[in-house]
Amino acid sequence: MADIETKPPVTTGKEERPAPAKARAAEREHGGDTAGVSPDGEEGGVSEAAKRFQALKQSQALKKSRKEREAELMRRAVDVAPRVSAQALPEAQPQKAPSLPINRREFLTYAWGGALSLVLVQGGLATLWFAYPRFKAGEFGGVFTLTTVPERGAKPEENLQGKFWWTNAEEGGMVALYKVCTHLGCLYEWKDQTRRFECPCHGSKFNQSGRNIHGPATRDLDQFVVTVLDSAGNQVDQTTPDHRYVIAEAGLTYKIDTGRKLLGRPSDPNLAVEA
Ligand code: FES
Repeated sequence: MADIETKPPVTTGKEERPAPAKARAAEREHGGDTAGVSPDGEEGGVSEAAKRFQALKQSQALKKSRKEREAELMRRAVDVAPRVSAQALPEAQPQKAPSLPINRREFLTYAWGGALSLVLVQGGLATLWFAYPRFKAGEFGGVFTLTTVPERGAKPEENLQGKFWWTNAEEGGMVALYKVCTHLGCLYEWKDQTRRFECPCHGSKFNQSGRNIHGPATRDLDQFVVTVLDSAGNQVDQTTPDHRYVIAEAGLTYKIDTGRKLLGRPSDPNLAVEA
């Protein structure tokens, strides 16, 4: 027995495995006298191995349970994380673009557009300024004021600045005849011998009232609009397309607007004369 107690227990893997069942079987086989005896008769080595086996089993069980707990905790954490993040985080709001001032490209575009518009506006205004007729009184294109009234049938008065003949028409009434022939634009003249207007270019002839009496012109002389004012400045008569001769009366004021021209009427064949 002294040898058995002093022998160190077997520490190899094969001897550590003997389960308590084997030891119990050995006990039963030897009538219980083998308690604390190894299968080889070494009592102290069996109990030590059984203890180590038990410790190993417990250690493994502890490790297993620890791993299982860790895995369980991880599973719970994974399950809980989405709910927590969904509750904790506010709902994502669409990002609103910050209202920044215009960028460099837009600034240059607006600047060029503004400059171009300014140039175009200035050009248009300048064109209108030069194209718009601006006539002063007493120059062709403007208004001429006359107070003289020639005798009916008398020689017409020539107005060089206004480029018109001021005549008291045979039909009765004052008329301002434009000095340009209605055929091709020559300047016709008054002929005392024949007492009519005659064009030196192609021979057209017009009576004292401006009616065409011989071709090649095919219409009467053009005339300017005449407005008649009384001594108080009130309008008493005015030339219209249907009213070609205005009242002839001394003491009245006649405004001849050389900027307003009435085209001559078509030639009247009843007035035609031989050359
Ligand atoms: S231009 Fe006067 S008749 Fe021809």
